[in-house]
Amino acid sequence: MKFTVAVDGPAAAGKGTISRRLSNDFGFRYLDTGLLYRAVGVIALHDGQGVLDPHWAVEIARRLTEDDMDRDDLRTSRAGQAASKVAALPEVREALLEFQRAFARREGGAVLDGRDIGTVICPDADVKLFVTASDEVRAARRHAELNNGQSFEQVLADLQARDARDAGRDTAPMVAAGDAHLLDTTKLSIDAAVEQATAWINERL
Ligand code: C5P
Repeated sequence: MKFTVAVDGPAAAGKGTISRRLSNDFGFRYLDTGLLYRAVGVIALHDGQGVLDPHWAVEIARRLTEDDMDRDDLRTSRAGQAASKVAALPEVREALLEFQRAFARREGGAVLDGRDIGTVICPDADVKLFVTASDEVRAARRHAELNNGQSFEQVLADLQARDARDAGRDTAPMVAAGDAHLLDTTKLSIDAAVEQATAWINERL
């Protein structure tokens, strides 16, 4: 059986938690596509001694392996910022496209989360979700998660800069697909969001 759930939305809106829960409950495989861009960004920064070279980033994207996604330095805010810079390069996105599509087509069902899953990677996904929350709520969640000494204001500014870059780029900008279900988790608990998403998936299964 092939069945694809596309989950998009801005940083720290709850996409990852919701996607993991859905993949567990339905027995679908899960791909956090942000890790691909984070790995390219971190390796490019590392190789370039702190400088992101666009040409080199494309080479890294072309040679990326699944092991690169296991690095332990992908969750930092520096990695997030680097990811959103390399993610604006069309050749980087192109290099990562087929891996994501192949993952979505595998037997047994798949959940992919990112920014352009419902619009570019899997426009024919069986169920599309666009998960959002207010800037303040997202920053508070990320602040608690990172717990790295950054102030709430810094985390908020960081998220807003990344969202602006992701929504404003020319190639595959972050936007809700016309046929996506909207899930605003500002006031909705994760349990309630998962319950709602489960009902939408069951309608299509
Ligand atoms: O989801 P996460 O916050 O880990 O993503 C890191 C960055 O990778 C995003 O800010 C975005 O620039 C980029 N990204 C993307 N398309 C995706 C997934 C992530 O452009 N499908």
